[in-house]
Amino acid sequence: MSHPLTRPRRTRQSDAWRRMVRETRLSPDALIYPLFAVPGRGVRHPVSSMPGISQLSVDELVKDAKAVAAMGVLAVLLFAAPSEKDPHASAALDPKGLAAQAISALKDACPDLLVWADVCLCGATDHGHCGHVLPGGAIDNDTSVETLARVALNYVRAGADAVAPSDMMDGRVQAMRHLLDRQGLTTTPIVSYAAKYASSFYGPFREAAESAPAFGNRRSYQMDPPNVREALREVLLDIEEGADMVMVKPAGPYLDVIRRVRDAVTVPVAAYQVSGEYSLIKAAAERGWLDERAAVLETLTGIHRAGADLIITYYAPQVARWLVAS
Ligand code: PBG
Repeated sequence: MSHPLTRPRRTRQSDAWRRMVRETRLSPDALIYPLFAVPGRGVRHPVSSMPGISQLSVDELVKDAKAVAAMGVLAVLLFAAPSEKDPHASAALDPKGLAAQAISALKDACPDLLVWADVCLCGATDHGHCGHVLPGGAIDNDTSVETLARVALNYVRAGADAVAPSDMMDGRVQAMRHLLDRQGLTTTPIVSYAAKYASSFYGPFREAAESAPAFGNRRSYQMDPPNVREALREVLLDIEEGADMVMVKPAGPYLDVIRRVRDAVTVPVAAYQVSGEYSLIKAAAERGWLDERAAVLETLTGIHRAGADLIITYYAPQVARWLVAS
């Protein structure tokens, strides 16, 4: 049956009709907000490439966490940029290090806000790579995995509600699960950055996390953007190793990957709308070239429609506010 009998516009003719037949609904419950910790007190250092986002000392971080929790955000994703960086990522392993301090301060101040701790070596190493560097410059998988598991243990002991490995080494999820379980920490979920691509859209983040590699690039560990079957392989491996949730990152340019992953697994799927995706909407909005609110809601709806159950976004508090107001 076709036109004139069938007219899809009938259920599109008013706001009430459109709302009734809407297939995808965003909820603040699905949004996770990234936070960047830096040393010091009273520090709010704006990230120039990410208007509205600042690096925060722990005392300020706690204030923002309280504010975003009050807006209805259920979880934050914590990144730390300690000042002491060395080849061993010592600051990330230190129970009194910046990340551990930030985690415990967040949990003290906002016990109900879920704190996901990003686990990687790049913010704490002097070379800025996500794993240990061998003489000659290659990234050594298996020693990196051992260190990453110890970093995860440190963050869980500090109070993290989940650990989120973002390094893309092989076998890190299994190593983390084993170490946590051996220490009796069997209840902490692992949110794996399972399909993380070597993306140009991380550019602004590297200023915020002070994690740009000092030499080379991340293409020997992060995924090659043209590949999607390989993303399924990564995701299935991580689930086998014990991941409780998997992530696709970035989100916007990888909607097909999100859909394929959603259809292939039964665990929750998260997608990360990364710094470059945020900054390009901000930059256009600041120039008056597009309507920021409409563009943000459209990108997040698209990511959700593609199959992401959860979305990590720098817009989380603002969107939570918009959704409550609408
Ligand atoms: C660290 C890490 C990165 C991001 C999250 N964790 C950067 C990178 O891999 O270079 C990117 C987040 C963003 O761009 O918003 N491994």
